[in-house]
Amino acid sequence: MTAAELFDLKGRVALVTGASSGLGVRFAELLAGEGAAVALVARRADRLAAVKARIDEAGGRAVAIAADVTDRRAMMRAFDEAEKAFGTVTILVNNAGVAHSGRALELAEEEWRCVVGTDLDAVFFWAQEAARRMLSAGKGGAIVNVASVLGFGVAKGTAAYAVAKAGVVQLTKALGLELAFKGVRVNAIAPGWIVTDLNREYLASEAGAAIKREIPVGRFGEERDLDGALLLLVSDAGRFIAGATIVVDGGQMVALRG
Ligand SMILES: NC(=O)c1ccc[n+]([C@@H]2O[C@H](COP(=O)([O-])OP(=O)(O)OC[C@H]3O[C@@H](n4cnc5c(N)ncnc54)[C@H](OP(=O)(O)O)[C@@H]3O)[C@@H](O)[C@H]2O)c1
Repeated sequence: MTAAELFDLKGRVALVTGASSGLGVRFAELLAGEGAAVALVARRADRLAAVKARIDEAGGRAVAIAADVTDRRAMMRAFDEAEKAFGTVTILVNNAGVAHSGRALELAEEEWRCVVGTDLDAVFFWAQEAARRMLSAGKGGAIVNVASVLGFGVAKGTAAYAVAKAGVVQLTKALGLELAFKGVRVNAIAPGWIVTDLNREYLASEAGAAIKREIPVGRFGEERDLDGALLLLVSDAGRFIAGATIVVDGGQMVALRG
């Protein structure tokens, strides 16, 4: 098998949540480029339509499905629509996420529930539904959850986000353990600072400059910096990887503060 064949995704059906901006757009275009048919999920239908148009134009196949990941009925509809368009989803990228910057004492209940509901609860329910459908169709597959380096450490003002992402790391191990022998591999990517709409303004500030100084490779990440990790985890190249979280952060997590 050649290296290209190892990463080939022809015949696979992928569903990417949060495919209307940032990393999700990149993930969707990458998977489509390697041959997967891709279901694009997020709330902003206009943005999804633009991503679908770009994938179509590049010769790929995509369907846009407007859905809120925290809405269980919308989730069922999204899987139904993806199946109707392309067949059983065999790759799920659980990427949709929200952040917050409020300190713990000021964090409103509503914000806590929104962050944990989107970044952790929804990750579980979408993974559970994807795995159920793969198995009832007699298929295996790959699920990739998007965690964060904040799943391993904390920063001030990230209580809900860091708790949710730490939960994603543990959830990935739990699902990896229960599902790998059934043929469904569950893994995660923990990105460091990648410039997207989520953080563009913050990273351009003084605080951002200080963060950059602590990244060993000397720069913030770009969306394409996650390509290798994603392709490894969803393709046959990663067929012996289960329950793992791959950290992609330019070395930030291993650097000593001094
Ligand atoms: N950028 C980084 O430095 C970084 C680092 C570590 C981890 N991450 C993680 O990477 C993932 C993507 O982040 P990003 O940087 O690409 O952020 P982004 O540009 O803000 O994109 C977030 C995506 O999530 C979707 N989303 C949010 N809430 C949703 C909901 N309730 N239902 C459906 N879709 C929802 C948004 O779409 P709609 O608004 O259209 O619904 C959007 O497509 C997140 O899980 C984030 O925590 C990012």
